[in-house]
Amino acid sequence: MKRTRIASLLASEKPIEDVCLMGWIRTRRDAKGFSFIELNDGSCLKNIQVIAAGELPEYERVLACGTGSALRVTGNLAVSPAKGQRWEVHAKSIAVLGQAPETYPLQKKRHTDEFLRTIAHLRPRTNKYGAMFRIRSEVALAIHRFFRDRGFRYVNTPIITGSDCEGAGEMFRVATQKAQGQVDGIQPEFFGQEAYLTVSGQLSAEMLALALGDVYTFGPTFRAENSNTRRHAAEFWMLEPEMAFADLSDNMELGESLITYLVRHVLDDCSEDIGLFAQYVEKELMKQLERIVSAPFARITYTEAIDLLQRSGRSFDYAPSWGIDLQTEHERFLTETHFGGPVIVTGYPRGIKPFYMRVNDDGNTVAAMDILVPGIGEIVGGSQREERLDVLEGRMRELGMNMDAYWWYLDSRRFGSVPHCGFGMGFERVLMMLTGVGNIRDVIPFPRTPGSIAF
Ligand code: 4AD
Ligand code: MG
Repeated sequence: MKRTRIASLLASEKPIEDVCLMGWIRTRRDAKGFSFIELNDGSCLKNIQVIAAGELPEYERVLACGTGSALRVTGNLAVSPAKGQRWEVHAKSIAVLGQAPETYPLQKKRHTDEFLRTIAHLRPRTNKYGAMFRIRSEVALAIHRFFRDRGFRYVNTPIITGSDCEGAGEMFRVATQKAQGQVDGIQPEFFGQEAYLTVSGQLSAEMLALALGDVYTFGPTFRAENSNTRRHAAEFWMLEPEMAFADLSDNMELGESLITYLVRHVLDDCSEDIGLFAQYVEKELMKQLERIVSAPFARITYTEAIDLLQRSGRSFDYAPSWGIDLQTEHERFLTETHFGGPVIVTGYPRGIKPFYMRVNDDGNTVAAMDILVPGIGEIVGGSQREERLDVLEGRMRELGMNMDAYWWYLDSRRFGSVPHCGFGMGFERVLMMLTGVGNIRDVIPFPRTPGSIAF
């Protein structure tokens, strides 16, 4: 079906005869002999006004169409005499594609985010969620452009895996639904061993970086963390670049450049949709985004951070002391209260970080780096990788890992091992930062969280 998107009609320089557009009614208002229809097709935030005259043969059917109904309209794009809009469409014919009765849940009024989560199948039709999912698409493409411009290759890493990259035991098991050829009452594993949904593509990405140089993987990851917080989802998208012949300072530079690039991108290219969030969701949004691009990120070591937290005079729920993982309250104090902007924390204790992080010369800390941002806390987690075979094996032994299962990973340290590093950036957390939306459930179309998998 040939149609013109409303976004391009609204951007037109001149009137156009005989356009065909399709969309859903946002509102309809009747005057004597006319009906004014606000039509939206999801191509942009704005609606276009369609004027249907009483003489149209389909007029009676149009009058029966309420909010949510779908129409096909042909007509002329004409300069609008009305205030606040440049264009309107004078309908020559209207076909009702799908009528929506009054039970349509998105009647014109403000709805709460909580209510909209219960109709996740319809919420993309609201201004706010339409804007969110357009921004999500734009940011994903911007990520690819950023890396392509820097010479990185896009690689795809497995979703079903046999290894626990983070060693946190937060994996979902993968099993077949139907028993397949049981032997002595025992169902064999489909893959010949236990399989899981991946928590991170890093270990595979490292193998590709150690061949192609600079790579990134960007895909869904899964964690069975039973934490019902506003920044954790059981299924989320992670971007994971990995660079060969690079160290922690290259890693920090990459993370900081990426974040500022994405902020600039939405400010420049998604201004209409971002404007909605600045107006209705987070009044400080523009200031926060400007702050991210206007100054270099603060840098601090974990040890300095603990010291700072202890001397802050704040009473935290979880007392800061050297050796504990930073809690959200600590991260937020650092980035919101103390620095008032993004901060990169390096040199975490080895005891709280996974096996693959490079051990620093002090023996107690690893070459880790987390990037924390206001409103969210950790948005990026990464490190330089342990490239020394003997040190890596020592760490794995210490953690009681099954070394045989990681033979292929260890091979990369046996054959031409080089310094390399990378990080993971939570895509949903980036979207929260870019829009000021406070709950991860509202930046992904169909969120998966403990106890919730409808849709
Ligand atoms: O810090 P994490 O656990 O790092 C890794 O998985 C590394 N293997 C990445 C790497 O070096 N290639 O996770 C990375 C990021 C976090 O900073 C956070 O933004 C996001 O992933 N993240 C989550 N986002 C939403 N829901 C969850 N449950 C998340 N867990 C982590
Ligand atoms: Mg982390």
